[in-house]
Amino acid sequence: MADLTTDFIGIKSPNPFWLASAPPTDKEYNVRRAFEAGWGGVVWKTLGEAGPPIVNVSGPRYGAIWGADRRLLGLNNIELITDRSLEINLEEIKRVKQDYPDRAIVVSLMVPVEEDAWARILDAVSTTGADGVELNFGCPHGMAERGMGSAVGQVPDYVEQIAGWVKKHSDMPCIVKLTPNIADIRMPAEAAKRGGADAVSLINTITSITSVNLDEMCPEPMIDGMGTHGGYCGPAVKPIAMNMVAQIARSPKTAGLPISGIGGITTWRDAAEFMALGAGNVQVCTAAMTYGFHIVQEMISGLSQWMDEKGYVSTADFIGKATPKVTDWQHLNLDYVTKAEIDLDLCIKCGRCYAACEDTSHQAIEMGPGRVFTVKDDECVACNLCVNVCPVEDCITMRVLEPGEVDLRTGMTIPAKDDKRTWLQHPNNPAGDPLACISRGQ
Ligand SMILES: Cc1cc2nc3c(=O)[nH]c(=O)nc-3n(C[C@H](O)[C@H](O)[C@H](O)COP(=O)(O)O)c2cc1C
Ligand code: SF4
Ligand code: SF4
Repeated sequence: MADLTTDFIGIKSPNPFWLASAPPTDKEYNVRRAFEAGWGGVVWKTLGEAGPPIVNVSGPRYGAIWGADRRLLGLNNIELITDRSLEINLEEIKRVKQDYPDRAIVVSLMVPVEEDAWARILDAVSTTGADGVELNFGCPHGMAERGMGSAVGQVPDYVEQIAGWVKKHSDMPCIVKLTPNIADIRMPAEAAKRGGADAVSLINTITSITSVNLDEMCPEPMIDGMGTHGGYCGPAVKPIAMNMVAQIARSPKTAGLPISGIGGITTWRDAAEFMALGAGNVQVCTAAMTYGFHIVQEMISGLSQWMDEKGYVSTADFIGKATPKVTDWQHLNLDYVTKAEIDLDLCIKCGRCYAACEDTSHQAIEMGPGRVFTVKDDECVACNLCVNVCPVEDCITMRVLEPGEVDLRTGMTIPAKDDKRTWLQHPNNPAGDPLACISRGQ
């Protein structure tokens, strides 16, 4: 049976599934139940400075986007960091860690950009026995307006400086949690590394307005007739998060920097995808808030079964395995040609593929008598829009043309695999390599 145990920057946990810093981890009661359900670790809900606790709104704090079946696709929140006292949180962390020594407990922190404030909170956390700290440089609402959260994460110099303070005042492993609300995620990741952080985690939530109440003419959630932007998370953000994880994993400047992947992870497959792109473990928030703590059991059994099927003995066997396959557009093979093929036995004759291709793609699907849909190979550009709009799985597939076959649309004979042209060698590229064209007789 596959070994799911992970060692993330020296923090051991029985599986790679951690709960992200958020409501599921904001108190002892929750975290104990999460551990009983099987979570390998938690990042405790972000703690702030000692003193009067944070005040949250007492109106609705969530907005949402749903699929047609009312499944939650995206969640928007305007919640702040913990609104419970620092002392109580610290006592609870200590008690839970004592009772669950084999689980990871990382404490998320957010205090003002002052060295003393960081030194003080680190001192306090060190008494709990927690396994590490995560610096919340990502929260995009409420705290950012006070000069913390994403206001820090958007300034690489601050990220570097604070990571440096944390390493100076503490010997706990330090994860920097990044905000996606930035043009290039590699910049704060590089800064975190320069500052001495042991890892980065990403993503925190994306700045968002999920809906506008058109009767009240007000963004939702509405607080006494007014709204504000929130932080977006859940399945809808997974593609954005995975791209950012891959960007950091494959950048030479951050290569090897451990990454904790976060953003829309709902199933074992989501987790495996993040890990294949370079995440050493994953963190989950919205899925636990939507389906409850026991969802981790499906994640554990699914990942374990998949690893057995693939012959992966430990998670290290597949972490980062897809990273080398992520490239820039200019390195893609422009001589790779596919054509759509419709399986008429599966087709339910709905005509979606026809409408999509006819109106918005390349008029490459013919509708014959009796609503028989066939692809015209001499028109198909292989965009695969039809595959994506077809309601029947595997009804339309893309067939790869073999070397020697002729693409009926362009008249090009598919070259041997080693003879491929990318944009860098393509004759239409004004900055391309002219010798590549000559050697091909063009
Ligand atoms: C209600 C709510 C509160 C959150 N609070 C925090 C927080 O205190 N600290 C933090 O670092 N991230 C916080 N997050 C962000 C999550 O930890 C996570 O980064 C984000 O939700 C993306 O993961 P998901 O798509 O699995 O939800 C919060 C998210 C939600 C929904
Ligand atoms: S792959 Fe694109 S061009 Fe080809 S049939 Fe489908 S929609 Fe039309
Ligand atoms: S979208 Fe799919 S099911 Fe509908 S007509 Fe096209 S091939 Fe058939």
